[in-house]
Amino acid sequence: MSEIILIQAEYILTWDDGYKIISDGEILIEDSLITYTGPRLKRSPESINRVLNTSDSLVMPGFINTHTHAAMTLFRSYADDMSLMDWLQKKIWPVEAKLQREDIYWGTMLAILEMLKGGTTCFADMYFFMDEVARACGESGIRASISQGLIGIENAKGLDGLKESSRLVENWHKKDDGRITVMLGPHAPYTCPPAYLQKVASKAAELGIPIHIHLSETRSEVEECRAAYGKTPIELMDEIGLLEQNVLAAHCVHLTGREIEIISEKKVAVAHNPGSNLKLGSGVAPLAELLKKGALVSLGTDGASSNNNLDMVEEMRLAALLQKGVSEDPTVVTAEDALTMATLNGAKSLFLDEEIGTLRKGSKADLIMFNLKKPHFYPLHNLISHLVYSAASSDVELVMVNGKFLMEKGKLLTIDEERILFEAQNRALRLVKDM
Ligand code: NI
Repeated sequence: MSEIILIQAEYILTWDDGYKIISDGEILIEDSLITYTGPRLKRSPESINRVLNTSDSLVMPGFINTHTHAAMTLFRSYADDMSLMDWLQKKIWPVEAKLQREDIYWGTMLAILEMLKGGTTCFADMYFFMDEVARACGESGIRASISQGLIGIENAKGLDGLKESSRLVENWHKKDDGRITVMLGPHAPYTCPPAYLQKVASKAAELGIPIHIHLSETRSEVEECRAAYGKTPIELMDEIGLLEQNVLAAHCVHLTGREIEIISEKKVAVAHNPGSNLKLGSGVAPLAELLKKGALVSLGTDGASSNNNLDMVEEMRLAALLQKGVSEDPTVVTAEDALTMATLNGAKSLFLDEEIGTLRKGSKADLIMFNLKKPHFYPLHNLISHLVYSAASSDVELVMVNGKFLMEKGKLLTIDEERILFEAQNRALRLVKDM
């Protein structure tokens, strides 16, 4: 027997070659799938298991966070106001060395709690002990694309990481009702030499899965790459054949014009992380230029120790405002651009746009509802502007993933909020003790 749910809302945000808003609309959900989105129809109530009639509401696709390290929530506010390399080498890597499996589980749960409350229904994660991340996703009901972070400086460790990734694919790819997918996660060109990255590319081709990597995050990374290989990171990735695979590249802050062309031509999916790039003083990515050249750009928060939250509404606003400010041109990166990056482009970047990113018939039911009865949503001239320029992620009151309610009236239904906060606090304190 199918579970059939009808959600009625004052507004529904759909996509048809651009965003469209349906007033007094409804969405019919059969198990995990959307079977109707449109104006309200006369229906026989006995065919529906549950009708949710909401007022002052906007139902839209859930946000897709395309770059994070979920369990790094445990290091939120542990090391701030430092440069990337100092931050990594002096603070983050030493404390990460103490992480145990259970810590990853609880840190990820804290991230999922925060993401669901803010309307994020899917995230791309790169970290380690990824079975624990998968377990957290399985239990909470969120959707995720997970990758084991690979370091290739030492040959043996690098090869072990690839084996571990293959095992991850076998155990988790398309598991938990298809909510979990797997990518290969070579950390970055400065931790993975070219010969190793070529092995990663072959493995990705063999397994038929995408690659998730950090590229051109800081100016010094680009300079070091030039000094070592005579090429910039994107040129180097192109030369060694990595870009022939499906690649999700986080950051891409420091790019030449030629690199922007390569990114567009090779259809590299860029995860733009404006909050993290600002906080680590890494710079401002040429987002307006990337969009102008037709590059696929989505939004990520990066880990909560370099952001310091996992708030996609904040990330949309930062992405738009920052580009306007630095280019002294308010017409670049419109509200619609920012919203597209946070939803549909996120789905495309995780190679999941057949399934998620819009509320069209046949999509998986990953949706959220904003409560519009808030002063900052009045008057209502333009809903998309409101979402990007005046919304707060805490306005999200309902979250559904894969046809299952995960949050209603702001209350989490699948996870124990108090327990997560308690575990995360105690584990984080233990980890940084004596550091
Ligand atoms: Ni990152």
